[in-house]
This record gives sequence, C-alpha cells and structure tokens, in this order.
Amino acid sequence: MREIKNLLVTGGCGFIGSNFVRYWLAQHPQSRVVVYDKLTYAGRKENLHDLWDTANVSLVVGDIGDQDLVRRTCQDEGIDLIVNFAAETHVDQSILGPLVFTDTNVRGTHVLLEVARELGIRLHHISTDEVYGHIRDNHQSVETDELAPRSPYAASKAAADQLVQAYAITYGIPVTITRGANNVGPYQYPEKAVPLFSTNAILGEPLPVYGDGLQMRDYAHVYDHCTGIEAVLLKGVIGEVYNVGTGREMTNLEMVDIVLDTLGKDHSLVKHVTDRPGHDRRYSMNVDKLRALGWEPKYDPKQAVAEAARWYVENRWWWEPIRSGEFREYYDRQYAERLAGTGAK
Ligand code: NAD
Ligand code: TYD
Repeated sequence: MREIKNLLVTGGCGFIGSNFVRYWLAQHPQSRVVVYDKLTYAGRKENLHDLWDTANVSLVVGDIGDQDLVRRTCQDEGIDLIVNFAAETHVDQSILGPLVFTDTNVRGTHVLLEVARELGIRLHHISTDEVYGHIRDNHQSVETDELAPRSPYAASKAAADQLVQAYAITYGIPVTITRGANNVGPYQYPEKAVPLFSTNAILGEPLPVYGDGLQMRDYAHVYDHCTGIEAVLLKGVIGEVYNVGTGREMTNLEMVDIVLDTLGKDHSLVKHVTDRPGHDRRYSMNVDKLRALGWEPKYDPKQAVAEAARWYVENRWWWEPIRSGEFREYYDRQYAERLAGTGAK
C-alpha cells in the first residue's frame, strides 16, 4: 500500500471532487489536501463548507491551464500526487458552447501533465465511460476498448485520457486513470439529470425527458466512485486504466420513476421533449479490473438514485440559491422551447 501525504485536488469544489476530498480526509486524516479550483459556475466553495476551518485543507483559486500557478502551488505545498477532477462536465453545455471544453479538459490536463513531468509528481486523472461512445446491447466496455467519443464533452475527455497515456509511454511519468460511470449523490449541480429531476419534482415543475427516455446509464453513487479512486491511488498498477461503476444500468424512465416515487410526486410531471443531438443510447462498463484490487460498490444504482433524490429534499439551502440565480438563464435556453412544445407550463 502506498503512502500519500500531500494531494493537489483539482476541481475539488465540484460535485465529485468535493465528495472525494471529504471522503479522503475522513479515511486519511494524516494527509493534507490543497484544493485547486477555478470556481466556475459548477465549482462552489459551499460544497466543502464543513471543511474550510480544518487545518489540513486549503484552497487555491486558479485555472489548471495556468502553468506557473500550478507549478508554484505544487512546489510551495510539497505536493506528491495530483488528482485531476477539474473539467467542464455537462454534455448539453458542450453542445451549446464547446470551445471551453477543449481549453479546460484538453489543454488544462496537458498543462498538469507538463508540471507533473517537470516536478516528477504522480498524476491520477479522472476520465469517464463516455470516452467509449455509446455501446451495443450486451457489450460492457473494458479498459482496452477503442475510444469512440460522440459529443464535444466526450471527445475532450477522450483527448485528455489519451494525452495522459501518451505521457506515460513517452516520458515514463507515473500516471493512473479511472473512467467513471454517471455519478449521483450530494452536491451535484442541478443541470445533470438526477438533481435536475429531483429539484424540479420537489418544486412541482415538469421533468424534461429527452426523446423516448429509453437511453441506459449506470447511475453509480459518488461514494463508490470515491472508494474506487482510493483503491487505485493506493493499490492500482502505475500506468493502468480502471473502470469505476456498478456494471448495472437502467433506462432514464426507470430512473425518473425512482425519483418520483421516492419524493411521492405524480408521474404526470414527466414530459418527453426534443432529444439531445447525438444522444448516446447506452453506457455500460465491466468493472472486474477494479474488483481485482479488492474494491466492491456499496450501492445498487436504484438505491443510489433514491438516496440522491432524498438529499435534495433535505438540502434546499444548497440548491435553491443556484436555481434562482444564473442557472435560470441556462435552464430557459435549454428547456423553454422544448417544454413549450409539450404544452407544459
Ligand atoms: P463538476 O462540473 O461538478 O465540477 C467541475 C469542477 O472543476 C468545478 O469545481 C469547477 O470549478 C472546476 N473547474 C472547471 N474548469 C476548471 C479549470 N479550468 N481550472 C480549475 N478548475 C476548473 O464536475 P463533476 O461531475 O464533479 O466531475 C468531476 C470529474 O469527473 C470530471 O473530470 C468529469 O469529467 C468526471 N466524471 C464525471 C461524472 C459524472 O457523472 N458527474 C462521471 C464520470 C466522470
Ligand atoms: P446527464 O446527467 O446529463 O449525464 P450524461 O449525458 O453525461 O449521461 O444525463 C443523464 C441521462 O439523462 C442522459 O441520457 C440524458 C438524459 N437527460 C434527460 O433526459 N433530460 C435532461 O434534462 C437531462 C439533463 C438529461
């Protein structure tokens, strides 16, 4: 088992990054975490509200594309591991405005690799199942499958994933990669399906389901993603890629039913709206390689979705200010016309 002392967690104020920081420090209280985050609309200091007064957590506000600041932070803080969560992460936003996805996800990751190479630091990169593209029935993606991304988001993540692997081959720098399934849980920005549907249902607003709603996703609890990353950090083979999910998927309509039943809301809130362009039909990953490290997911996807929906009931303090602020403009741009087409108010 490796000892890890000082971590730079990029994107640590986002959904998965903040869950990871909280999980890691609970398990490894002797280590120090420097959160490095640009605080975009998705990066929120309040995601770590309970930790900022803790001596072993600090925040540097910055862009992962700022090589001087990343280098200086790593040197000043004695960083021995970079965990890269920082990214633009929403497929629909990547369809509306794709260039920033290349800036952060491709160039930003490239800058982190340059600093890691220069200073001899290990880099763990957070990738996604979307790099495999949508996959045929009965197949489960394995780590050696060809990458075949189909959205600007997925293409930028695939480029980053391949850059990380290329640096390991060319320069021999120590890297590992995890490819996560769709995550759900606390502090997920309400642009993503499960928090969007949960908060809409709580407010009695329509749930805009794209197309027929029969697309399939592995809705994994963010807790299991964090334990999977931890397993790879401590026991993973350097240079290797590991899938992290449950290996079980459901349709979006099944996910919506769980959300509505958990919240005791009427199914008439469901509105089928114009589909997302290029909408990936199915993601599913084989997670045996991670299991071989002794990891097992704790949550079934059904439990994960239900538990996530309940979190939004209990934590209105977190999402109400988001929903009434800048998010509104995005929501109207994305959904007003689509929902008007269904007759929904
Ligand atoms: P998120 O959008 O909630 O958070 C992203 C974080 O990155 C935010 O804190 C944001 O401020 C920060 N950030 C963005 N651009 C930055 C930049 N240029 N410099 C520094 N910080 C920047 O995302 P998330 O859902 O927590 O995803 C985290 C990582 O996990 C991403 O790499 C994503 O691709 C990957 N992933 C996500 C999922 C999922 O279901 N959410 C699944 C698999 C993989
Ligand atoms: P999302 O959370 O955006 O994740 P991803 O596109 O990365 O899988 O969406 C999950 C699924 O839900 C996906 O099939 C798209 C669908 N979806 C809707 O049907 N309506 C919505 O408003 C959103 C945001 C997503």
